[in-house]
Amino acid sequence: MPLPKLPTDTIKRETETEDSMDTQAEATIRNSDGEQLDDELQERLRSLRVFDCELPAFDIGGAPEHPIELFRSWLIEAITAGVREPHAMTLSTVDADRRPSSRVLILKGLSSGALQFASSRTSRKGRELSATLQAAAGFYWRELGRQVRLTGQVLDRGRDAAA
Ligand SMILES: Cc1cc2nc3c(=O)[nH]c(=O)nc-3n(C[C@H](O)[C@H](O)[C@H](O)COP(=O)(O)O)c2cc1C
Repeated sequence: MPLPKLPTDTIKRETETEDSMDTQAEATIRNSDGEQLDDELQERLRSLRVFDCELPAFDIGGAPEHPIELFRSWLIEAITAGVREPHAMTLSTVDADRRPSSRVLILKGLSSGALQFASSRTSRKGRELSATLQAAAGFYWRELGRQVRLTGQVLDRGRDAAA
C-alpha cells in the first residue's frame, strides 16, 4: 500500500498568512505530517517478515578452535550457496571523540587470519583507522540466516596490497 503524499495544498494555504507566521506554520504542518508518516512506517516495518527461512543449527562444540576458520568456512558456504554480495561487509570505525560510524565495504581477501579491504587514507574511515587502528566488521548472509561480527586491530599494508 503506498504511503500517503504530503498534503501540499494544506501547506500552501497555511503559509499564505502573515510573514512572521509563515515559517512556523509550515514547520508545524510538515512536522505533524512527518509524525503521521512515521506512525504508518512503523506499522509497516513491524509487519515485515524477517528470518523467513529455516535457520541453520549451530553446534558451538563442533566449531573450529579459531573463529577465523569458522568465518572462512561460512564465507565459502555463502559464496557456494549463491548469496548475493557475500563479500559485502559493514565496517565500523570510531573517531577521536569515540563517535562511531559505519559503511559498507567489499572484502578483498583473507590473509594469515586477517580480513583485507581497500580504503582511501584520506576518507573518514581512512583517517579514523589511522588514528585508532581499531575496527569492527559485520557480515549478514540473509539466505543462510547467519551473521558474523569481527573486531580487531587494523594494519596498513600499503598501496601495493590494495592493487
Ligand atoms: C556495495 C558497496 C561496496 C563498497 N565497497 C567499498 C570498498 O571496498 N572500499 C571503499 O573505500 N568504499 C566502498 N564503498 C563505499 C563506502 O561504503 C563509503 O561510502 C565510502 O568508502 C566513504 O566512506 P567514509 O566516508 O566513511 O570513509 C562501497 C559501497 C557499497 C554500497
